[in-house]
Amino acid sequence: MGGGKGGVGKTFVTANLATSLARLGKRVIVVDVDLEGANLHTCLGVPTPQRSLADFVSERVEDLAKLVVDTPVPNLQLIGATHGNLADAQPSHLRRVRLLRGLRQLDADIVMLDLGAGSHASVLDYFLVSDDGILVLQPEPTSVENAYTFLRAAFYRRMRLAMVGHGVRQLVTMAMDQRNERGIRTPLDLLREIEAADTAEGHRFVETMRVFRPRIIVNGVRTAEDVKLGFSVSSVCKKYFGVEAEYLGYVNFDDEARQSVSMRRPIVDLRPDADVSIYLQRIARKLLGLPSTSAAGGRQDAGVPGYPSGGKR
Ligand SMILES: Nc1ncnc2c1ncn2[C@@H]1O[C@H](COP(=O)(O)OP(=O)(O)OP(=O)(O)O)[C@@H](O)[C@H]1O
Ligand SMILES: [Mg+2]
Repeated sequence: MGGGKGGVGKTFVTANLATSLARLGKRVIVVDVDLEGANLHTCLGVPTPQRSLADFVSERVEDLAKLVVDTPVPNLQLIGATHGNLADAQPSHLRRVRLLRGLRQLDADIVMLDLGAGSHASVLDYFLVSDDGILVLQPEPTSVENAYTFLRAAFYRRMRLAMVGHGVRQLVTMAMDQRNERGIRTPLDLLREIEAADTAEGHRFVETMRVFRPRIIVNGVRTAEDVKLGFSVSSVCKKYFGVEAEYLGYVNFDDEARQSVSMRRPIVDLRPDADVSIYLQRIARKLLGLPSTSAAGGRQDAGVPGYPSGGKR
């Protein structure tokens, strides 16, 4: 769960989706990988964990399973990121590789990562390693801008990792500089150059493009216009990157969301019938491929449900 920008609701959405998934019977572990701004535990009502990801990063603990703590929600466990040493908030590449490998071995149906803000290589790697990186954005120009920067950085990083030949990798690196001298401005320009240099790498590039499937959640929606943002980001992804980015859904702006954070309870538990909870639960069902159940708004079949009715169920 990433997004580029700070404060768009990544942690709030992670905590609530994880809770919803656990309520749907999945064994879920949420992991706070925001070593500089760890606060996922607070959203879930877990007192500051004594053991945390910081112990793994600083090599005090090798087994991630030892860092898992229970939350008040059955089926939902947490690896927090508290008590970090700010000096190693960005783990080395090797340590990150170990971490990512360890995360895959955790005993759970679903492991969800709450990412920090920004487009640092470590944040991108957490996003890229997941089967379904989810981008959270808010309907405001700064958030949209940062979301594109994030996607662009993730896209090129993914491509560079996929390429085998040194020369072709260099082409990708060059393309990352928007003002590169070779005139590569878009991923399609880059593809043309790669194909000219090496057909096999060209195929690999196209295949990697096909499996790179970020998904989108718009949080803090207030108007019908805001709801559409997810569709436009999705179509820009298609047009510019040639990438299918599914619009998973939106979550309305609701002051109760903020209050639930102050009360250290996921809103889907505190007020399961609030619109904001219904939208979150709907996204959780969609993640599991379950049909959407009733309520809040209208259409269920257009990819994204209808705009909040304003009223409660
Ligand atoms: N849908 C919403 N309606 C109203 N308030 C919201 C909503 N979503 C989040 N908030 C508020 O915004 C605050 C910031 O959200 P959150 O901490 O989840 O952002 P973040 O993207 O994780 O930030 P950071 O990048 O700093 O980690 C929350 O504490 C909550 O009060
Ligand atoms: Mg956060």
